[in-house]
Amino acid sequence: MKRRNTIDGLQQAISPQEVNSPNTLIDNWGRRIDYVRLAVTDRCNLRCIYCMPEKMRFLPRKEILTFEEMERTLRILAGMGIQKVRITGGEPFVRRGLSEFLERINNISGIERIHITSNGVLLPPYLDDLKRLGIAGVNLSLDSLDRERFYKMTRRDDLPDVMTAMEGMIAREIPLKINVVLMEGKNIEDVIPMAALTRKYPVDVRFIEEMPFNGTDNGKQRLRWDYKRILEKLKESYPDIYKLEDPPASTAMNYAIPGHLGNVGIIAGFSRTFCGTCNRIRINARGMLQTCLYGDGVLDVRELLRNGSSDEEVADFFRLHIGQRAKDGWAAEKQRLKVREVSTSMSTIGG
Ligand code: GTP
Ligand code: 5AD
Ligand code: SF4
Repeated sequence: MKRRNTIDGLQQAISPQEVNSPNTLIDNWGRRIDYVRLAVTDRCNLRCIYCMPEKMRFLPRKEILTFEEMERTLRILAGMGIQKVRITGGEPFVRRGLSEFLERINNISGIERIHITSNGVLLPPYLDDLKRLGIAGVNLSLDSLDRERFYKMTRRDDLPDVMTAMEGMIAREIPLKINVVLMEGKNIEDVIPMAALTRKYPVDVRFIEEMPFNGTDNGKQRLRWDYKRILEKLKESYPDIYKLEDPPASTAMNYAIPGHLGNVGIIAGFSRTFCGTCNRIRINARGMLQTCLYGDGVLDVRELLRNGSSDEEVADFFRLHIGQRAKDGWAAEKQRLKVREVSTSMSTIGG
């Protein structure tokens, strides 16, 4: 086994057979890419303040990939070494026909795990489908357990439906992670009650640094709650909290609290501590390939699919751009074109 260590923090074992295999994607920094995040819509039923303004202009329907186009894209990527798919949005469940789409992509050979990131509001009717399909896990965006604070964060009064989704997934043993974006003056009171959920439930609760993707031009404010401060806050109530070994390419730094069933995580999405092991690409809601969350779209996949390109041609373009990735989120941000009037909403990128 050869060990590569091309950039700081990167240590991935890649066998000589894999390096030369047409079914393995390795980027220009030696990082293995096996995970795609696919945004099936930019629309959302919530209006989270860290993600979008109250009045949001969504993309016209024809600018979004059809399910057939998405399925073809995933087949091509599966043939290149992508094994994990995460369905994102906007909110994935606002797109009609999602369940049937999941059923279809579940049969793609090479795709081993399908995950979903959702706000949970529209999820309850699909609980049994998700279980039957063997969905590998749902990451539930839930920023507060208090109805009023939930309303202030999301501009909608939908906490009871999210709790139904959460309880339904726990009851069905669908692997569940809860994503909590932390904002000064909004939901810091929720840190301990959220962490306390892990006492009786086998769920991972992850606290996330706010990133500058709120769809407005005042998204670049100082980060008030970075990963160090979040850990300090947890230690005040849980002095025995201890670090776990993180799975490869984890976004979260994971911790356990003695006597608790689930774990607690911190995602330094703004500080970008995990770029060295980044294993992912994104297809955003416009059908653009993004090789970094902080970068621009680099390849118009929708155009390729609609102009008669063959699967091999599409695959070659993917390879080209995966061979030209930015080293990390800081470099990707620097390379961005500065033509936008307002910052991108996370609902277009898919998080
Ligand atoms: P797992 O697949 O369960 O590890 O989840 P994930 O963390 O990859 O995905 P999820 O959709 O739950 O995202 C959780 C948080 O991590 C969100 O705020 C994402 O925007 C952020 N995140 C996910 N991927 C990246 C990334 O590549 N870079 C950065 N900076 N943040 C990311
Ligand atoms: N900063 C950090 N995380 C964000 N998310 C959405 N917008 C932001 C932001 N500005 C999270 C959502 C969801 C995940 C995909 O990204 O809460 O859980
Ligand atoms: Fe919707 Fe997610 Fe954005 Fe909230 S963060 S508005 S749930 S896309």
